[in-house]
Amino acid sequence: MDISALFLTLFAGSLFLYFLRCLISQRRFGSSKLPLPPGTMGWPYVGETFQLYSQDPNVFFQSKQKRYGSVFKTHVLGCPCVMISSPEAAKFVLVTKSHLFKPTFPASKERMLGKQAIFFHQGDYHAKLRKLVLRAFMPESIRNMVPDIESIAQDSLRSWEGTMINTYQEMKTYTFNVALLSIFGKDEVLYREDLKRCYYILEKGYNSMPVNLPGTLFHKSMKARKELSQILARILSERRQNGSSHNDLLGSFMGDKEELTDEQIADNIIGVIFAARDTTASVMSWILKYLAENPNVLEAVTEEQMAIRKDKEEGESLTWGDTKKMPLTSRVIQETLRVASILSFTFREAVEDVEYEGYLIPKGWKVLPLFRNIHHSADIFSNPGKFDPSRFEVAPKPNTFMPFGNGTHSCPGNELAKLEMSIMIHHLTTKYRFGQLLERATGFSMGHSRFPKTDCPLCWPGSRRSKCRMTELPLAFLYLERGD
Ligand code: HEM
Ligand SMILES: *[C@@H]1O[C@H](CO)[C@@H](O)[C@H](O)[C@H]1NC(C)=O
Ligand SMILES: *[C@@H]1O[C@H](CO)[C@@H](O)[C@H](O)[C@H]1NC(C)=O
Repeated sequence: MDISALFLTLFAGSLFLYFLRCLISQRRFGSSKLPLPPGTMGWPYVGETFQLYSQDPNVFFQSKQKRYGSVFKTHVLGCPCVMISSPEAAKFVLVTKSHLFKPTFPASKERMLGKQAIFFHQGDYHAKLRKLVLRAFMPESIRNMVPDIESIAQDSLRSWEGTMINTYQEMKTYTFNVALLSIFGKDEVLYREDLKRCYYILEKGYNSMPVNLPGTLFHKSMKARKELSQILARILSERRQNGSSHNDLLGSFMGDKEELTDEQIADNIIGVIFAARDTTASVMSWILKYLAENPNVLEAVTEEQMAIRKDKEEGESLTWGDTKKMPLTSRVIQETLRVASILSFTFREAVEDVEYEGYLIPKGWKVLPLFRNIHHSADIFSNPGKFDPSRFEVAPKPNTFMPFGNGTHSCPGNELAKLEMSIMIHHLTTKYRFGQLLERATGFSMGHSRFPKTDCPLCWPGSRRSKCRMTELPLAFLYLERGD
């Protein structure tokens, strides 16, 4: 048997185990008299997985919703699921009854980030972590970061001058550096290169087959993870020796009375980098695409940003107050978050039999709030496919616009994400021209690029990640010129 056949067997094996886990959890729901939600479950075992992956998943979701309404059942990747796409149902699952729906992730994510990362938990441990994370990312904490974020943005822009860049890749460097700043404070630069090297190897391998043999991507990735923990351990012990307090995320984790273990801290730091980097970089890429496609909007944004520069000396820093005086820019960010809906949905699992609107959601079933369907519902947002920032002149109704989720697991980094995007937009529009946004869609195979293979934050194990269409990305090559 050659190596690839061996891998195939192992691969099929791990997929099978995943299926089995779902099948076991699906066995019992005989006791309830309530009907299941409408919908079809497809073939035995494989369910409707092929239908999901043979077309754009968003089309799959939307046609199901048209047919069966906003709560329907299906069966994909070995798991029976209930998909929900109304604001009321999303509120039920994420907010009011969130204790009945626990977060659930593919095993590969847990392996990469570490079991103790915030995403995987419920209850007391989750609440404690969340408090520490929120403390580091609330407006009062991040307002002091404005000058440092600004210099990271300016460094990035300078390094792009006069060259053709791959927007998403470069934005990932920017958002990575800002994430490190928020975690380690100004010390960040000391560890940047080491952390970056390890993190990049780690993420390359985390979606690979979990075969821990020398030479495999997985093996390298696990080694990189160990090295990351060692770097973190070094930083921790230095900080403990120095004894000074820091008001960054690491300081928040270390300052807790019931201190977290080093392992818990490491898992959560890797987790925050993961949550912060690709998401924000992807949104920034979409923003540039929409600005380039809508010159009127770009002009208005530029004017708004120029007005902020007007009262400043050459080279004078932005302030937190300035970033709050960008209403049009922030509507552009909101509208991009809506149209692009980069996280199309999230996963939960029912921890017991739950009744919703007369239907049974059986224990162990996956429950997927479909953010993208809600954001693209014509009943909520008229002409939903159109990019139109002015629709946010009126605040959206509760639970109709949830790019950062809602409830107990909603995004604690949303203020930071908006801040770093605003700062980037400020310098980009006031100092550069970037009309030349080349979408080499046809000539270049990366045309309408998705996340690169290993980057999709929502892929299931075993899914063909190279074909993932969950998280479509604009591939834009950006050419920057100084605008003076
Ligand atoms: C535009 C960029 C971002 C988007 C669209 C985004 C979106 C989201 C969403 C939808 C969730 C909730 C998932 C769920 O309920 O299952 C989430 C959770 C989370 N996000 Fe973000 N996020 C972004 C940036 C960030 C940044 C910059 C950070 C950190 C600095 C961050 C840290 C987190 C963490 C730690 C969680 C888990 C919270 C918990 O489980 O309690 N995110 N994010
Ligand atoms: C601790 O202090 C030493 C010397 O004062 C300094 O070189 C080092 O960067 C500090 N480390 C941290 C993590 O603050
Ligand atoms: C989250 O849910 C609460 C309660 O329904 C609601 O008041 C709030 O507006 C929701 N947030 C978003 C972003 O929709």
